[in-house]
Amino acid sequence: MPESPQSLFDALAQDYESMRRELKWDPFVHIREAFHDMSLKDLDILDAGCGTGECTRWLAQQGAKPYGIDISDEMCFIAADRSENIPYLAHDLSEPLPFGNARFDAVIALGCLEYIENIEATVAEFARVLKPNGMFLGCFERYGDDCPGKNEKNVVFFDEWMRYRQSETEIRQMHEKYFKSIEITPVRGFLLEETNEYTQYLRVIAKGLRQ
Ligand SMILES: C[S@@+](CC[C@H](N)C(=O)[O-])C[C@H]1O[C@@H](n2cnc3c(N)ncnc32)[C@H](O)[C@@H]1O
Repeated sequence: MPESPQSLFDALAQDYESMRRELKWDPFVHIREAFHDMSLKDLDILDAGCGTGECTRWLAQQGAKPYGIDISDEMCFIAADRSENIPYLAHDLSEPLPFGNARFDAVIALGCLEYIENIEATVAEFARVLKPNGMFLGCFERYGDDCPGKNEKNVVFFDEWMRYRQSETEIRQMHEKYFKSIEITPVRGFLLEETNEYTQYLRVIAKGLRQ
């Protein structure tokens, strides 16, 4: 039985921050870039798969009102311990989100979607809780199954109904180099703004379209 992300990250939680530095996973590159031209003051931001809350705290320092969610109780516990006045919730992102429609100005999911089996449902929930024109920032690892608990199939959630700037063929060609298998998964409700390869990570920025 492969280890579940929950038990994997419960076990990693205590040392996660030093481990991610060693692994050179830097989510801050992506949030800084995604939000570089906007004020975060008072923005409601969902940090999905927040881990120990490093990004969640950074968002709060910029004046945002972040909300962290993670499947790992241990991650949430440590995040809460290291943060002041930031709500954290232990919740599986495969399940519906416990928020009303259009609750957030932005949703970020950094280094987390690759652990979720059915991201269609998860990303549809992100679309539901985002305000119209709200920003979705997703960033996930492109390479194979190097991490226990990670999805065997690599998922790419572009869709032919979304108006992306690159064609589906271009996206397939770009990813065939790296992915064992590619799923172009339908996710309605987003306008794709940018896709970007960054080291071994792929970044996606999209706007919520839900009215
Ligand atoms: C690689 S860490 C990334 C943490 C943080 N976002 C960062 O960039 O440092 C992945 C996180 O996703 C969480 N995660 C994995 N599957 C999840 C799920 N189904 N629901 C919620 N969180 C999940 C893990 O518990 C872990 O904290």
